[in-house]
Amino acid sequence: MKVSRLEVCCGVALVLLASVIVIFFWTKEVREFKIDYENNRFLKDGEPFQYISGSLHYFRVPRVYWQDRLRKLRAAGLNVVSLYVEWSRHEPQPGVFDFTGENDLEHFIKLAEEEGLLVILRPGPYICAERDLGGYPVWLLHKNPKMQLRTSDPSHTKYVQIWIDTLLSRLEHLLYGNGGPIIMVQVENEYGSYSTCDRNYTLWLRDLFVKHVGTKAVLFTTDGAAKGFLKCGPIPGVFITVDFGSGANITKAFEPLRAIQPKGPLVNSEFYPGWLTHWGESVSTVETERIVNTTRDMLQANVSFNYYMFFGGTNFGYTSGANYRDSPNTSFQPQLTSYDYDAPITEAGDLTQKYFAIRSVISEFVTVPGIPVENSKKFSYSGLVLDPRVSLFDSPGVVYPETTYPKTFEELGLYTGFLLYETRLPETFSSQGLLTAKHLHDRALVYIDKQPVGILDRSNATFSLNISGKPHQTLSLLVENQGHINYGIMSDLKGLTENVTLNGDVLLNWKQTGFPTEDVSHVVDLPKSETVKLPAFYSQKFQLTNTAEDPGDTFVDMSGWTKGVVYVNGHNLGRYWSTEGPQQSLFLPGPFLHKHPEYNTIVVLELETENSLRKVFFSPTPVWSSGNSR
Ligand SMILES: *[C@@H]1O[C@H](CO)[C@@H](O)[C@H](O)[C@H]1NC(C)=O
Ligand SMILES: *[C@@H]1O[C@H](CO)[C@@H](O)[C@H](O)[C@H]1NC(C)=O
Ligand SMILES: *[C@@H]1O[C@H](CO)[C@@H](O)[C@H](O)[C@H]1NC(C)=O
Ligand SMILES: *[C@@H]1O[C@H](CO)[C@@H](O)[C@H](O)[C@H]1NC(C)=O
Ligand SMILES: *[C@@H]1O[C@H](CO)[C@@H](O)[C@H](O)[C@H]1NC(C)=O
Repeated sequence: MKVSRLEVCCGVALVLLASVIVIFFWTKEVREFKIDYENNRFLKDGEPFQYISGSLHYFRVPRVYWQDRLRKLRAAGLNVVSLYVEWSRHEPQPGVFDFTGENDLEHFIKLAEEEGLLVILRPGPYICAERDLGGYPVWLLHKNPKMQLRTSDPSHTKYVQIWIDTLLSRLEHLLYGNGGPIIMVQVENEYGSYSTCDRNYTLWLRDLFVKHVGTKAVLFTTDGAAKGFLKCGPIPGVFITVDFGSGANITKAFEPLRAIQPKGPLVNSEFYPGWLTHWGESVSTVETERIVNTTRDMLQANVSFNYYMFFGGTNFGYTSGANYRDSPNTSFQPQLTSYDYDAPITEAGDLTQKYFAIRSVISEFVTVPGIPVENSKKFSYSGLVLDPRVSLFDSPGVVYPETTYPKTFEELGLYTGFLLYETRLPETFSSQGLLTAKHLHDRALVYIDKQPVGILDRSNATFSLNISGKPHQTLSLLVENQGHINYGIMSDLKGLTENVTLNGDVLLNWKQTGFPTEDVSHVVDLPKSETVKLPAFYSQKFQLTNTAEDPGDTFVDMSGWTKGVVYVNGHNLGRYWSTEGPQQSLFLPGPFLHKHPEYNTIVVLELETENSLRKVFFSPTPVWSSGNSR
């Protein structure tokens, strides 16, 4: 039979097509990440798989550095990156979603994949993470100030459903089984530490996750490695993991887990190579040798684990949270702006001795890729003098209708910054009295006719103050929201949450003005003014020294100032509180700066004390209170 050229071509094409189809279905079949309970291991495409993961949060480092941080994580020998998703930044207003720019989560996940990493996704919706309200948008508490977060309260689940449906629909194509890098997805977060224990909620949430994830990735929970935490944390049908730090006896640490999940791979979802620090504490550190030893123990025991944090980063703006301790003296503990965490990679992205020690112990077990990584270049600049511009009290604020009793930030719809409460000293007031703001959240500068008369502070449980004045004088309380509690209690309304009394009598008729202080651009072009009253904005324009290079990273040294907020070129670098410490400087990433000859603008909002020198310094290394270092 004579075969035409065309037929040969078609034949070849058909064979090729058939092969493509076969390969397609064959690959599709083995593209799978799952648990082999019987053999206590994970299977990735049918092969045993152990992960060495590190936590790194896209929301704590500028997007331009995402790739750098991911690459450094991979270069240490890690094969997975673990990340929380922060609801509040992706849904800044109800029903308004943002997945662009600094919030481009898909881009972060794709970069991770490009750098050779798989991904563990922790979407909460509660994430703790030492973030404002544990990652929940504060507007939820405007919708319903009594909302029971982390429960099946329908006013809560209504918004959770919209958020999780939105998020997981966007990310479905990135699940491992769908061809992407996401191998695991966490349901809620350490629910066993939450006293409410609403199993209806966790079951409902599980089903919401299952709807999107199915078998395309492994769903898991994580909780403290003790019997108590494993009572309410685990959810039927969801793989259970635990958290513990260095120095633990591995066998012993997994015993409570093994009691309820006798088979399956062992996972430590939060292994702490460092720890968080609150204002007023010494810097938390964890000894490298302990990390190395426990890392080795876990690798030897085939444990899959995640360093929390491998890179900490920065709580820019008003994103840091607070802890709460049920003790009369220090019940409220706001967290630092720095989330350096004593992690293997520093806040500025530098590699530490801890980093190299970890890379070395990992290399005893797996081949560490030879990826070149280096520290960023830094710059210093000494003694930039700032000029006073305007008092906060003379700055534009949001004026709310006067109310008989004071309202909270959330009731008024103010989610960041400061709320100024003003009333008049009563007719009957006789020169002296005890002012009490019970359950003040969090810190109030108190003024009579705009003259400072004292400070009330939740951190040291100071809720009363003796004041003197005359009837009809203006009494003002400028209340600062220092970050919503992110762990334990989840109903932390800000401001004057109860009536304010003077000698036991309730003060009425409050004028309220909000200062969200997110946008301070009004300050920049104001003339210098020597007579401004605190709290006040100071600012200056400056040029970097003549260089064609891109600006390096630096730390704005605020020692000598007292308490406030720093902004550079419109970026809110976060809070400083130099008198409280231990943090004295704020990380300023180079990409926030303009290179020569363009001008840069720095704005400082100082709340409490006039700094006679009015100088800021740019330091190439972070500055901590004396006696502290990492
Ligand atoms: C859980 O749901 C069941 C059935 O709907 C209901 O009877 C029970 O009261 C709920 N429990 C809680 C804590 O809400
Ligand atoms: C670790 O704990 C296990 C189980 O409790 C125990 O058998 C073992 O002796 C412990 N190892 C060390 C080094 O203490
Ligand atoms: C780490 O392990 C080594 C070798 O077993 C031991 O000598 C050392 O004391 C351990 N260090 C710490 C801090 O546990
Ligand atoms: C770890 O896994 C390897 C390979 O599957 C196995 O040979 C070894 O016995 C396991 N070790 C432990 C402590 O389970
Ligand atoms: C806590 O406060 C009480 C009463 O003000 C005081 O007696 C006690 O010494 C304080 N404890 C600490 C640890 O500061």
